[in-house]
Amino acid sequence: MELLLKGGVLHDPAAGWNGPAEILIKQGKVEAVSTSLESIEAPVLDLTGKVILPGPIDMHVHLREPGGEGKETIATGAAAAVAGGFTAVACMPNTFPAVDSREIVSYVRKRAAETALAHVYPIGALTRGLKGREISLMWELAQEGVKGFSNDGIPLMDSGVMLRAMQYALLLDMPVISHAEDSCLSAGGVVHAGEHGYRLGLPTIPSSSEAVMVARDLLLQEEVGGKLHLAHLSCRQSVELVKWALEREIVLTAEVTPHHLFLTEQALEGFNTSAKVNPPLRSAADREALVKALGDGVIQVVATDHAPHMRLEKEEGLMDAPFGAVGLETALPLLWTLLVDKGLLTPLQLVEAISSFPARILNVPGGTLQKGSPADLVVIDPYREHTVEPREFYSKGKNTPFGGWTLKGLPVITMVGGDIKMWKGMVKGFSDEFPREEKTFFLEGIS
Ligand code: NCD
Ligand code: ZN
Repeated sequence: MELLLKGGVLHDPAAGWNGPAEILIKQGKVEAVSTSLESIEAPVLDLTGKVILPGPIDMHVHLREPGGEGKETIATGAAAAVAGGFTAVACMPNTFPAVDSREIVSYVRKRAAETALAHVYPIGALTRGLKGREISLMWELAQEGVKGFSNDGIPLMDSGVMLRAMQYALLLDMPVISHAEDSCLSAGGVVHAGEHGYRLGLPTIPSSSEAVMVARDLLLQEEVGGKLHLAHLSCRQSVELVKWALEREIVLTAEVTPHHLFLTEQALEGFNTSAKVNPPLRSAADREALVKALGDGVIQVVATDHAPHMRLEKEEGLMDAPFGAVGLETALPLLWTLLVDKGLLTPLQLVEAISSFPARILNVPGGTLQKGSPADLVVIDPYREHTVEPREFYSKGKNTPFGGWTLKGLPVITMVGGDIKMWKGMVKGFSDEFPREEKTFFLEGIS
């Protein structure tokens, strides 16, 4: 399909583009970007008043397949991704079985090729069975196509194992994605060790349980080098430590989730299990430090940690409900409304955090719409307001703490490899109303 996008505003830091742009798409790739492509004859999609961003890559999601298909599948997770404006996701290895063998990597990739509307990049288990006792068959997993390694979801207590994993990842030139948690400090806890947690009388998870491990990983990184990426940072101590490491020119990247940027422990009020996440939502001062760190470039990436769970599991009390919140279908509007619209982050900084950095860290295509790049992009409506309604999610998981929030910056088109996968909230193959014929896109238009 050949297609000319006109009238939109493009923010693409890698291309140095920040303004009105016409984009010609041909055979799944960006053929040309210019302020005017008048002489070109191609079907036109009028995007007047809309914003175009290089395809966002969510580098931290849980798709639950294999073994947890009741919570999510690769198909439904990828549908949720394109519904939320993401063109790619990296899925964590804490499935059943864990992604620690060639067979499971190849299974995930096969399921993705068969069923997923977005690119799906598997992350391999850092340790065998995620048990933390010995490093996994990292070379084999890399051969089979994982884009990084992580023990996400399960604290890796043995520093010697972490060191060896980092050394091996360095040889493979692959990122280690650290879930920084000292389980001796966090064990049994369910909420942040703060005012609110104490008042609820629930067992707590102190900030030190994260910061201690952040410090360890930074010291190991200084020794080893390579690519260290700190997942879902939640507290100001971690931010301070990352700042210290960057000043020492230790090479690393760090990530924050929308829920840690926009919520505090207060969200657990009324024993609200949809706000029970790991690491826990912390204090207002922690939240402010995270927002500031993102603006200052101390934290470079926003990822959702999309963690779908079944309604019945989340209806258990706060003590027993599993940790996690879905994020794919709320992240972009939240970031647009609460950071960009408020002037806390420029559109270029947003694209760095959700597209450019993730592409660079995972070493995957995308992150920019320069000529020759894959035509992976999202079009968002910066003005139209929309109220979050979990029942409308394409994800099987409805466990969001943002239900009922009214947000702007709604994604209205998601294109992957030049193909429109989401059109005005309707997802290809998942929504009966999704246009049957391509020409409908041009005739109907987007406004
Ligand atoms: C994640 C999950 O459900 O798999 N839960 C969460 O609260 N973040 C695990 C994890 O990323 O720690
Ligand atoms: Zn985690």
